[in-house]
Amino acid sequence: MKIDILTLFPELFVSFLNTSIIGRAVLHKKVEIKVHNLRDYSLDPHKRVDDYGYGGGDGMVLMVEPVYRAIETIKKENTKVILLTPQGAVFHQKMAYDFTKEEHLLLICGHYEGFDERIRSFVDMEVSIGDFVLTGGEIPAMVLTDSIVRLLEGVIKEGSHLNDSFQNDLLDYPVYTKPRNFMGMEVPDVLFSGHHANIEAWRLSKQIEKTKQRRPDLLEKR
Ligand code: ADE
Repeated sequence: MKIDILTLFPELFVSFLNTSIIGRAVLHKKVEIKVHNLRDYSLDPHKRVDDYGYGGGDGMVLMVEPVYRAIETIKKENTKVILLTPQGAVFHQKMAYDFTKEEHLLLICGHYEGFDERIRSFVDMEVSIGDFVLTGGEIPAMVLTDSIVRLLEGVIKEGSHLNDSFQNDLLDYPVYTKPRNFMGMEVPDVLFSGHHANIEAWRLSKQIEKTKQRRPDLLEKR
């Protein structure tokens, strides 16, 4: 899979793309990720990519021209172009799975006070990471990239995301490590039983219990 990211702040992605699981996935060529500076697509002598909005109002508006030029340059036949915006479809785990099937994603980070509405005509999909407003689409682009890349084959241990929260619309079961007793809080005995089926049954019951308590909406969906 290939992911291209279009941003005004490529430097924000440096440690993200070189660290931990994502860094390893890139190093081992499980995914190819390239970050593009939107200013490189501006024809303005000062590399401007924003201007005052028509009709007045606060803040600068990202211009359609450089974004269009970038999309046309980076896009290939099988590219899904995704615009990160709080007005998009709210991202969830199933969407992350669906995106793993794409050959090529182009993630466009909105910024400043807004972007020219006409940019919307050149994207395939708009995605939001939740009902809150960030200063730009960079963190949302990292959120999408992280959640997609960890699902790609060979990135994390085979099958280990099958127990993820939201897989099957259930939250994840609790896990423990040493010490067995911490300040009177004991690790459940079943985990020392060595009885695989009992451990699995206990885990599923905890998933259901936790989901009932915290996210009853997920159980309804199930
Ligand atoms: N840009 C600003 N806020 C955002 C959000 N919640 N999701 C996606 N992109 C955004």
